[in-house]
Amino acid sequence: MRFQHGLLSVAIFAGLASSRPSTSFQENCESLADKIKLDYTFEVNIAQYVPPNTTIDLVAEGLNATCSGNTTTPVPIGVCRLNLRVETSNSSEVYTEVWLPENWKGRILTTGNGGLAGCIQYPELTYGASYGFASFGTNNGHNGTSAGAFFHQPEVYEDYSWRAVYTGAVVGKSITEQFYGDVCGKSYYLGCSTGGRQGWKAVQKNPGLFDGVVAGAPAIDIWAHLGFFGYALQTLGFNTSSVTLAQWGAVQQEVLNQCDGLDGARDGILEDPSACEFDWTALVCSSTLNSSTCFTPDQVEAAAKLFGPITYNGTLMHPGHSHGYEPELITWEYSPLVLTWIPEIFRYVVYEDISWDPTHFTLEDVLYALQKDSDGVQLNTFDSDISAFRDRGGKVLHWHGTADQLLVSRTSDLYYNKVRSALNASVADLDDFYRYFRASGVGHCSGGPGANFMGQIGGQVAVDTPNDSMLRRIVQWVEEGDAPEFVRGTKFINDTIALGIEFTRKHCKYPKVNRYTGDHEGLDEEGWECVEP
Ligand SMILES: *[C@@H]1O[C@H](CO)[C@@H](O)[C@H](O)[C@H]1NC(C)=O
Ligand SMILES: *[C@@H]1O[C@H](CO)[C@@H](O)[C@H](O)[C@H]1NC(C)=O
Ligand SMILES: *[C@@H]1O[C@H](CO)[C@@H](O)[C@H](O)[C@H]1NC(C)=O
Ligand SMILES: *[C@@H]1O[C@H](CO)[C@@H](O)[C@H](O)[C@H]1NC(C)=O
Ligand SMILES: *[C@@H]1O[C@H](CO)[C@@H](O)[C@H](O)[C@H]1NC(C)=O
Ligand SMILES: *[C@@H]1O[C@H](CO)[C@@H](O)[C@H](O)[C@H]1NC(C)=O
Ligand SMILES: *[C@@H]1O[C@H](CO)[C@@H](O)[C@H](O)[C@H]1NC(C)=O
Ligand SMILES: *[C@@H]1O[C@H](CO)[C@@H](O)[C@H](O)[C@H]1NC(C)=O
Ligand SMILES: *[C@@H]1O[C@H](CO)[C@@H](O)[C@H](O)[C@H]1NC(C)=O
Ligand SMILES: *[C@@H]1O[C@H](CO)[C@@H](O)[C@H](O)[C@H]1NC(C)=O
Ligand SMILES: *[C@@H]1O[C@H](CO)[C@@H](O)[C@H](O)[C@H]1NC(C)=O
Repeated sequence: MRFQHGLLSVAIFAGLASSRPSTSFQENCESLADKIKLDYTFEVNIAQYVPPNTTIDLVAEGLNATCSGNTTTPVPIGVCRLNLRVETSNSSEVYTEVWLPENWKGRILTTGNGGLAGCIQYPELTYGASYGFASFGTNNGHNGTSAGAFFHQPEVYEDYSWRAVYTGAVVGKSITEQFYGDVCGKSYYLGCSTGGRQGWKAVQKNPGLFDGVVAGAPAIDIWAHLGFFGYALQTLGFNTSSVTLAQWGAVQQEVLNQCDGLDGARDGILEDPSACEFDWTALVCSSTLNSSTCFTPDQVEAAAKLFGPITYNGTLMHPGHSHGYEPELITWEYSPLVLTWIPEIFRYVVYEDISWDPTHFTLEDVLYALQKDSDGVQLNTFDSDISAFRDRGGKVLHWHGTADQLLVSRTSDLYYNKVRSALNASVADLDDFYRYFRASGVGHCSGGPGANFMGQIGGQVAVDTPNDSMLRRIVQWVEEGDAPEFVRGTKFINDTIALGIEFTRKHCKYPKVNRYTGDHEGLDEEGWECVEP
């Protein structure tokens, strides 16, 4: 079925907003498919009314087996759900979902993806729809989590770089207006990791698309991050690490010994990991150390390479990881996920040669990838001139966990400072439209020992106020001009809501750092203050 020549006129749906009984909302939803009109070739796969608190079985619908999350989290209100196939070129397409809530507040929300993408992020759709946003999300132009989809498919790769998000936002907005018969209000974006990169890409490339962007842990300097993964394997061993997990545990302990107190609280969290000038000497094997966790001088040399600036031929390739989360860093480095990324991206995208051998990786491969990327698709998302976004009145809330075991937060520090130089801006100048928060002790998008529930993605909302929810906070900034000085996070005992709150903490706006002067070992929010570094 195709619906390329839909006859919908906006007037047909005028006045169908939330005040009507839900039956008419449901009827209008179910008849929407025949009426949609878009400037794209498309077909509607699903047009269904989803009653409040319904769980959708995504596996039964054919969810790609490599995507996680078999079912959706229920939305407490009724939603008109559409799934469309939209052609983005003559050799590429996106699958996109448009969720239209019964209590639409006039706002629209585009959601991002993760990793090598190919999976619609249903938790973010639920999150947005629950707060009355018409919410959109695509499969980013391919199904599943493999880069194999990009092999000799430049248009599919173009979708991955930027066009899927763009298309999803444009299509979603048009359908929203056709359904409710009203002009959309402000347009928002929420994403983390690849999703953070997608948000920044829109700021840089399509500055008119979003009024407010929440970009978390963004994979903006993507080749640097991928380069780090390869470099770490080259340094520690491709198949198994020459430094054991128990040894990395000893490093973390010693890091906490040396640096945990620098911020005034010995709470297992480094507020500013860049302040930690770690001395490896205490770990070098001697008669007093445990021989299964101490380091030989060669091991120290290898291990330390991951935490300092990584350069190649005089060019900074990666700022090095931060200290404080060493076991998680190495566990992820040797996870099936990361071990797959290096061969896939270099085989299918960089060299277009499926026989490329990842165990021959060197930083020269990264240099080559960067050059090819800047001449071509520009997956790298490090453009610092964001004046067009500033000048159209956009706002961006950028955040990064300082215990991010996958994409180091230092990359976000570098980007912030690069934007400052490019715009010749002071921190106060940037404050007008771009604010960056370092979330201490927070892992990649979630998790970690820090206060990690910040309303930053779906399922991570602790308290329903703008100070505790990045999505609500960006709305307050865009619509009321009330800009955030902090974002508050909540730490639940064992990261389990049912076990109760362990502590809350305000994360500081970069370049400020948290300093503790209280006497409750960091557990009291009031004992902390954001100060100049
Ligand atoms: C649901 O997902 C889990 C992994 O996240 C998987 O083991 C399980 O088989 C899935 N269930 C179905 C019905 O596919
Ligand atoms: C949906 O679930 C919430 C929370 O359990 C409940 O308060 C609400 O009444 C439910 N809504 C409907 C329509 O059942
Ligand atoms: C597909 O699009 C490309 C680029 O726009 C064009 O060069 C090519 O001729 C098109 N192919 C077909 C079969 O239409
Ligand atoms: C992607 O998945 C959809 C169903 O969700 C399927 O119709 C389509 O053929 C798939 N595309 C590819 C390239 O496998
Ligand atoms: C599911 O994803 C994998 C890659 O991760 C891909 O090879 C496969 O074709 C996808 N399946 C469908 C039905 O699209
Ligand atoms: C790593 O493992 C692969 C197979 O998984 C094997 O072919 C290769 O020889 C191993 N390399 C080293 C250096 O042990
Ligand atoms: C040495 O470290 C290993 C690994 O952490 C541990 O299992 C063992 O108990 C330690 N031995 C002593 C004497 O502390
Ligand atoms: C290294 O840098 C030098 C000087 O900038 C340059 O001439 C040379 O081509 C570079 N080598 C590589 C492999 O990039
Ligand atoms: C940068 O800004 C400063 C302070 O506003 C100003 O004095 C200086 O001329 C600017 N430099 C450039 C190159 O615009
Ligand atoms: C949010 O934080 C600000 C600054 O501390 C405070 O003035 C305001 O009352 C807080 N809002 C709510 C709803 O708690
Ligand atoms: C939290 O997890 C730890 C370690 O897994 C466990 O020992 C502890 O009992 C848990 N706490 C609660 C309240 O469940």
